[in-house]
Amino acid sequence: MKRNKISIIGAGNVGGTTAQRLIEKELSDVVLVDIEPDLPKGKGLDLIESAPIYRYDSHLIASTGYEETAQSDIVIITSGIPRKPGMSRDALLRVNIDIVKKVTEEVVQRSPDAILLVVSNPLDAMSYVAYRVSKFPRERVLGMAGVLDAARFQAFIAMELDVSVENIQAFVLGGHGDSMVPLPRYTTVAGIPITEVISKERIEAIMQRTQDAGAEIVRLLKTGSAYFAPSAAIVEMVVSILKDKKKILPCAAFCQGEYKVDNLFVGVPVKLGHGGIEKIIEISLTSEEEIKFRKSVAAVQELCKTVDQVL
Ligand code: NAI
Ligand code: 2OP
Repeated sequence: MKRNKISIIGAGNVGGTTAQRLIEKELSDVVLVDIEPDLPKGKGLDLIESAPIYRYDSHLIASTGYEETAQSDIVIITSGIPRKPGMSRDALLRVNIDIVKKVTEEVVQRSPDAILLVVSNPLDAMSYVAYRVSKFPRERVLGMAGVLDAARFQAFIAMELDVSVENIQAFVLGGHGDSMVPLPRYTTVAGIPITEVISKERIEAIMQRTQDAGAEIVRLLKTGSAYFAPSAAIVEMVVSILKDKKKILPCAAFCQGEYKVDNLFVGVPVKLGHGGIEKIIEISLTSEEEIKFRKSVAAVQELCKTVDQVL
């Protein structure tokens, strides 16, 4: 039987915890690559030494080069610099364009059939870099953000109501930035719209906390940004792809007319299966939701202008 192979480029906080989650679940073998010579080896050894206790047989290869990434099924790009306190995701733009460009060039020549799952920030613009540089079809380039943002929205709603997180279904659309769009109208608790069980004022406060959730963690950690929930979100997407589950998940996808968005990555619900994005699901928006969504799209568009200038 062919073993699944996932390469993670960037063995930092998100890359390392993603590797841990993947091999603990025996979802695939993992190749962990970083520009720092000893970092992937250190994290890799630590994970290999956990295997006898956790009892997993997934292989982990650590490297500073790309040879070992050849023929990956999925390549997860987490390389780049994270936010520091007070720093916006967008300030990361120029540094991370160069990093994601270089990494994409390296991985696509060795894994021409892989699915690229981009995580580096600013997420929608970095997904666009990977798409343009790889020249892969749009089905095989996607960004992780909506699953994380929706999970945060769900967590805050569960806290508010003191109910199981399993009861909450939530949607967040738009770019992974301050103008992301949590959608209470499509958010339910055991099938009941949250608009029936939480006051308008409290919903608005929870939406705002969701938009600020990444920054809230940056403020608390002081030395980096979130990684437990981001790696969990990545793994949910990976499972849907590897197991061809066809889950509908909010992901950054290259829209070509959907949602009246042309040639831009933005967070939208997609059906995620073995080939990557199988379909972009279009949902109707009220005029108020539409205004917020357009504002978020405009923010991504602005970043992608810089990408077009640099590439
Ligand atoms: P980190 O600093 O812990 O790890 C980044 C790693 O990338 C470092 O180990 C660094 O050496 C490596 N790196 C830098 N340039 C490289 C290159 N050219 N080739 C290979 N490796 C290289 O950062 P963390 O917390 O893991 O975050 C990674 C990225 O993911 C950041 O851009 C962050 O903003 C983003 N992020 C995005 C999320 C999302 O929802 N899309 C959620 C969390 C983080
Ligand atoms: C987050 O939302 C930093 O984008 C990252 O936590």
